[in-house]
Amino acid sequence: MSDIETINFVEERYKKTASHYANKYELNTNLPNTPCYVEISDESKLFFLDHSISNSFVKGKFASRIQKYQTENLIKKAFGKNISSMSILDCTGGLGHDTFILALLGANVTYVEQNKGLTILFEEALRCLPPTKYFIDAVKRITVRQSDSRAFLEQAEHYDAIYIDPMFNSEKKLARNKTMTFLDMYLDDHGNELFDLFAAVNYKRLVVKKEGRAVSVKKPNLEIKGKSVKFDVYIK
Ligand SMILES: C[S@@+](CC[C@H](N)C(=O)[O-])C[C@H]1O[C@@H](n2cnc3c(N)ncnc32)[C@H](O)[C@@H]1O
Repeated sequence: MSDIETINFVEERYKKTASHYANKYELNTNLPNTPCYVEISDESKLFFLDHSISNSFVKGKFASRIQKYQTENLIKKAFGKNISSMSILDCTGGLGHDTFILALLGANVTYVEQNKGLTILFEEALRCLPPTKYFIDAVKRITVRQSDSRAFLEQAEHYDAIYIDPMFNSEKKLARNKTMTFLDMYLDDHGNELFDLFAAVNYKRLVVKKEGRAVSVKKPNLEIKGKSVKFDVYIK
């Protein structure tokens, strides 16, 4: 897995934010010629070699998903009718899209992501949200942890649900957008490792996102199927 060592800013007004992340994640600031870094701005970007991604929650495809979050029926079914009062451990936080939808739906979510670059892109997306009550309340329900989620294995039973969204590694040629192509290149695919580990400990509910046609490693108690993805739900 690649990760950043540097956090950059071009405009002076972003210096404080960049310094905050530099201290928090032990990064250099404005070190030239590094292949992988985050640049702080109003739409912060993660750079890797000649490629970059951003993570806006206020414009683009994910912003439209946010506006219609009440129609997230697959997620609602996967987590069940108590979703609005649940505590959820999101073991594969990534860009935080699923974490944010779950928080908008009322859940208290612990976002765990091992990659510093992606964790910062998520924190930046939250920082740049408009200060409406609707967003402020959702952000308050999110705890961000930059860590390997295996560190949370022993705490699994304290959460109402554990969520795993592994990298999709399809033999079939599914449509990959720019962000997915970037992540394929930037991150390693750990296959079913996290699922195997969490499936073996005490949990209340384990929700795993999969490609629609993927074969389940272990028969789930519930299978919530959408057009291209499905959620396997295990209940103890
Ligand atoms: C497919 S992405 C998750 C996307 C996320 N659900 C979203 O909505 O943006 C999988 C993420 O899991 C992270 N990951 C994989 N293994 C992990 C581990 N052991 N601990 C923490 N994060 C992990 C990867 O770095 C990657 O960012």
